[in-house]
Amino acid sequence: MLSERLTQYSVLTEEKLGKLLSESDLAPILKESMAYSVFSGGKRIRPALCMAACELCGGAPEDALLAACALEMIHTYSLIHDDLPAMDNDDMRRGKPSNHKAFGEANAILAGDGLQSLAFYALSLCPHTDALAAISKGAFEMVMGQSLDVNSGGDETLLRQLQDYKTGALFRAAVTSGAACANATKEQREALIRFADAYGMLFQITDDILDFEGEASVLGKSVGKDAKEGKTTFVTVYGLEQAKEYAKGYAHEAREAVLEVGGDGAFFTELISYTLTRKS
Ligand code: IPE
Ligand code: IPE
Ligand code: MG
Ligand code: MG
Ligand code: MG
Repeated sequence: MLSERLTQYSVLTEEKLGKLLSESDLAPILKESMAYSVFSGGKRIRPALCMAACELCGGAPEDALLAACALEMIHTYSLIHDDLPAMDNDDMRRGKPSNHKAFGEANAILAGDGLQSLAFYALSLCPHTDALAAISKGAFEMVMGQSLDVNSGGDETLLRQLQDYKTGALFRAAVTSGAACANATKEQREALIRFADAYGMLFQITDDILDFEGEASVLGKSVGKDAKEGKTTFVTVYGLEQAKEYAKGYAHEAREAVLEVGGDGAFFTELISYTLTRKS
């Protein structure tokens, strides 16, 4: 059920992303480098959550397709820039050499810039202005989180805010933009935000756990760097076992919020369970 819905959303997203990238009049290397990272097999969870939120609030997945594509392009741009030598200096992403390893730093910076610009162009075609507002806010908060991340120096007091911004923000943007595309009620939107607040923390804590005990070949990215680089994560601050307890707590909070949205929340609850035990 979960994997079928994820596949269904992924197929829709990738087809539309293909069109958005091919319709744009891009310089050849720019187009190649953007497509390289976008079509290298991410899990597509943000677009899936956007379309699932739209469906849960009474819309069709297609109603949220432009917002979903914008989210995946913003997310992919954040990954390209996150991997740059000046940031996390990671050579591997989505199972392939990271963008700057394949195209050089200048082209990687531009691929990220290009994806961000194309995301906002796609949103300009979306008739739901609330979706544009939600994703613009999320994109900016993500950058704030990345700024806190690179400047935090292991400061424990910044941990939750940093993780909420760098990762939670795009999940909030996903569900609120999806809800906006279905003209959801205020109550539905508020409960979805509570879900995303908790799910974002769950997602980033499990990312931190996988950096500690995951396998690079399964994850498609390097492991063991957070501690080495003095990153502020749930594992570096609290240790592995306590990080796992926090993850369970946020999973519980996220499930409670799904119940408050009402309707058939099975996709959301299955996604929470999957995320809690994910290996990639
Ligand atoms: C990785 O996100 C970056 C974080 C916010 C932790 P994902 O784990 O969703 O990456 P992809 O899209 O599947 O590659
Ligand atoms: C990055 O967090 C979150 C982003 C906004 C890209 P990480 O630096 O932990 O993500 P990974 O582990 O490289 O995917
Ligand atoms: Mg980082
Ligand atoms: Mg990183
Ligand atoms: Mg990480």
